Amino acid sequence: MKLILVGFMGSGKTTISKLLGEKLNLDVRDLDQEIVKYTQLSINDIFKNKGEAYFRKLEYDLLQKQTSFSGILATGGGTIMNDNCLEYVSYGDTPVILLDMLDEDIKKRLGSKNGRPIASLKTTDELIELKHKRDSRYHRVANLIINTNSKQPEVIVSEIMFFLNKNKIGDNSGTRR
Ligand code: S3P
Repeated sequence: MKLILVGFMGSGKTTISKLLGEKLNLDVRDLDQEIVKYTQLSINDIFKNKGEAYFRKLEYDLLQKQTSFSGILATGGGTIMNDNCLEYVSYGDTPVILLDMLDEDIKKRLGSKNGRPIASLKTTDELIELKHKRDSRYHRVANLIINTNSKQPEVIVSEIMFFLNKNKIGDNSGTRR
């Protein structure tokens, strides 16, 4: 993998990975979509019928299958809650970018719940609390933290490109972390 994006639900991982993929001419995968393809079930159905623990195990199984994928991977908001996934992401040699959002953006982005199984069961305050609980894990794996702060996606992508260029990531001439 060339890049891994992490961040809470609604932080823009899917949108930003697609835009970055276009700019860098790289393929993009979304871990949730890989799970859906593999199981032929929706994320909602997996949570409803098999439970969260089963979903977290699937995340690790499918994450491991991405080793030879040479593009950008957008993870799920809770992927790093599985210790195996956390280790896999943080000890690999792929740069990890955290899209960090403000509490008020959680309200805006997840207010309509967007069909997400965890978001649909929680109030906004509970979601903010959940993000705070996860924050140390997101920060632990990140090589670059982008404060999304209601920025336009193009601005976020420029910040990531600046980091990649500065660290000579992607041109095969420098260290990647
Ligand atoms: C989850 C986030 C979701 C998805 C699942 C669980 C979480 O991904 O993996 O609903 O625990 O935060 P997104 O961050 O893409 O919404």
